[in-house]
Amino acid sequence: MLHFVDSGPVEPGGPPDAGPPLVLLHAFPMDGALWAAQRRALGREGRRVITPDLPGFGGSPLSEAPPSLDVVADEVAALLDELRIERAIVGGLSMGGYVTMAMLRRHRQRVAAVVLADTKASADTVEAAANRHSMADAVEAAGTTAQVAEAMLPNLLGATTHASRPQVVATVRRWITAQRPAAVAWAQRAMAARPDALADLAAFGGPVLCLTGAEDAIATPADAAAMAEAARSGGSQTTVVEVPGAGHLSAIEDPDAVTGALRGWLTALD
Ligand code: MLT
Repeated sequence: MLHFVDSGPVEPGGPPDAGPPLVLLHAFPMDGALWAAQRRALGREGRRVITPDLPGFGGSPLSEAPPSLDVVADEVAALLDELRIERAIVGGLSMGGYVTMAMLRRHRQRVAAVVLADTKASADTVEAAANRHSMADAVEAAGTTAQVAEAMLPNLLGATTHASRPQVVATVRRWITAQRPAAVAWAQRAMAARPDALADLAAFGGPVLCLTGAEDAIATPADAAAMAEAARSGGSQTTVVEVPGAGHLSAIEDPDAVTGALRGWLTALD
């Protein structure tokens, strides 16, 4: 089963229960710590927030199945089963967003609403998929993720963070170098195989929040607009939020702004 951190069911005498649990899925190649600030802040306000480590990352075992984000979505659904949660609000940042869209494809009845942060619905180009396979082969051969961190950091974080938040750069470097090479390789091969998800978004019909760092060079505000448009075409109530001064890892680059966007959207849903 996936390792996870749970802000916990609402305590008797604590703040009033604030609606369905929120499951937040992390980016590649890191773990559930990406969402720690949001889990703590919203948890204190009475929202149950669960942050799993996806297969192979953090404290979760790597799947023995061939690489596929469908496998990851099934593991998230199995975690919901284990926690006896029938329906949750499911959100993810980048790779976590790809998994959220795989949840819509495979477990739509378990999903009450979705958050798509710094992610995109399009499949990889042939070239992008080939790059992922090269990185997977290289990281397995190297037996370390140190080079992955150095290769990815320039694009993962926005210009504002690179210029003025050295502790965020150091934290993300530490997170990436702590991950297992086998998990990085498996996830890259899984992402290379993912299908386009615009039709899954159009078929959803539930509320959708698309959130993106204004300086995100990997999943751009235009990608967020395309997802929002697809969801809206299927009748979803759709909200788009751009976080100024943040890049691809908006949840850690400006945690308060992302928490605030989630809080505002969740409050309007309840
Ligand atoms: C991520 O942040 O999860 C990755 O940048 C996703 C990707 O490689 O497409």
